[in-house]
Amino acid sequence: MISSKIKAKLAGGSAIRKMFEEGNRLKAIYGADNVFDFSIGNPDLEPPHEVSDALKDLADNPTPGMHGYMSNSGYESTRKIVADKRSAESSLQIGPDAVCMTVGAACAMNDVLHSLLDDGEEVIVLAPYFMEYNGYIENHNGVPVIVPTDENFMPVISRIKDAITPKTKAIIINSPNNPSGVVYPASLLTELNDMLKACDHTIHVISDEPYIDLAYDGMTVPCALSYIDNLIVCFSWSKSLSLPGERIGYTLVSPKNEDYEDLTNAIVLSHRTLGSVNAPAIWQKVIERSIDAKVDVANYEHRRNLLYSNIIDAGFDSVKPNGALYIFMNTPEGLTDAEFAEICAKQNILVVPGAAFSCPGYCRLAFCVSETSIRNSRKAFFAVAEELGIEHKAEL
Ligand SMILES: Cc1ncc(COP(=O)(O)O)c(C=O)c1O
Repeated sequence: MISSKIKAKLAGGSAIRKMFEEGNRLKAIYGADNVFDFSIGNPDLEPPHEVSDALKDLADNPTPGMHGYMSNSGYESTRKIVADKRSAESSLQIGPDAVCMTVGAACAMNDVLHSLLDDGEEVIVLAPYFMEYNGYIENHNGVPVIVPTDENFMPVISRIKDAITPKTKAIIINSPNNPSGVVYPASLLTELNDMLKACDHTIHVISDEPYIDLAYDGMTVPCALSYIDNLIVCFSWSKSLSLPGERIGYTLVSPKNEDYEDLTNAIVLSHRTLGSVNAPAIWQKVIERSIDAKVDVANYEHRRNLLYSNIIDAGFDSVKPNGALYIFMNTPEGLTDAEFAEICAKQNILVVPGAAFSCPGYCRLAFCVSETSIRNSRKAFFAVAEELGIEHKAEL
């Protein structure tokens, strides 16, 4: 008999999964190019050549023990390369002991939350947010506390302050953000740090950074390590190197943390006891040789521009995302996000209702789909607007 907790979660299902299955059904009927499936954020660019060069080299030049266990935090050589990179970006002195190599960001988040949370302690999440956070927090008997952002999806410091209780243990930030694509400015990170430092107990900031290398319009994403003291980074190469299936990432504890030593030890212990033991050996070695590589970000930017134009030109509204892989468009007035998603599906446009990100009134569209599909979807967006009596802002 499975646990009642898991039974309840199974009954809840996943909005994104549902859309994924609907997408497959429609593609079987209409053909892949005529279904505009913006529901899943699966990075579709190939990894840069540095990755395959490293894999070939490792296969051609094996070293004894290269497939063996290592310390639970990962190879020291890999952790040093990561620490040096993040030191240069943040001007902090970060040593390899700050880093624990993980099985992607999902594992990193679970390692960190397991290390921080006692039963019933609260973690603030900023809506809209990546819905898996709820599961990660509840895995470790924590309680998510949802704080809405403003109309541009920027965190509101006064709202966060009002949500803090004696049980608040951490806050999760995610910039560039899934699903809104917004990038938090340095001034906001400073304000957050100042507010948290004035609290009467330590509150850790968990910076979930899988999209930090995917920024557009010439923007550099402010490095949270430079602005927030009690910070723990969760990073993965799922997006920046297009390796989501390979499962490689890290946690990094800022040396400015008040409980730096306890935190670094706790995360390594959690990593071991939660069952990851250590991050994949080969992929750590690949990362050593690809540390400065990334996918062709201009390609994502081009597709963001095309999809954003389709949405705006058809007559809809949306904040323009500066990063990540998503557009979080406004649902037209008078409709719920689920109703709007259904109307879109009639034109073979698949989107995820914002309620799935604790933010009804919006829908998420992932632009990591083929350029042909984005171009072909223009007509369908115009048709949706016409059905709703919305005036176009440009020609088809
Ligand atoms: C905001 C956010 N955090 C974490 C993850 C998990 O990433 P990973 O594949 O590295 O586990 C994702 C994946 O899409 C994400 O969007």
